[in-house]
Order: sequence, then structure tokens, then C-alpha cells
Amino acid sequence: FIGQKLAKNKARCNHHVKLNTDKVVDTVDIEDVGEKKAYCRCWKSKKWPLCDGSHTAHNKESGDNVGPLVVKGKPA
Ligand code: FES
Repeated sequence: FIGQKLAKNKARCNHHVKLNTDKVVDTVDIEDVGEKKAYCRCWKSKKWPLCDGSHTAHNKESGDNVGPLVVKGKPA
């Protein structure tokens, strides 16, 4: 099915996040950031759009050097 087909295309960097949409766009209200949040940039996180540390295994397997975007908000 189309989601599985897309997930297997190696030219893609996104293999599992919202595959049924044409474009993945996420919006975060700055008030929801709290003191600090890490957002995924490797497309491997299972907690998208937040980083879950999956980049570590990806970097080890691929030799890549990707990591999260860390956004610092105001202390609570
Ligand atoms: Fe993707 Fe951390 S899991 S940057």
C-alpha cells in the first residue's frame, strides 16, 4: 500500500512520519516549549516532532552526524 511503498524508497529521508500527507509541517507554540525541547531533524524519531534519541543509532549505522534542534524557552 502507498505508505509502505513510500517508506521503502531509499531516495527519501522520511520513512515513517505522516506518510499519507504530501508535506510534513509541524507548528509549535512557543508557550509549549517550556524550558527546553529537542526537535528531530533526522526523521527517525518515533515521537515526532520531538527527538527520541534515534539519531544516535542512525549516526552509528550510517556515519552521519545529524542531531536535534534544541529550542530554549523561558524557565517555568
Ligand atoms: Fe531525530 Fe534525535 S531522533 S534528531
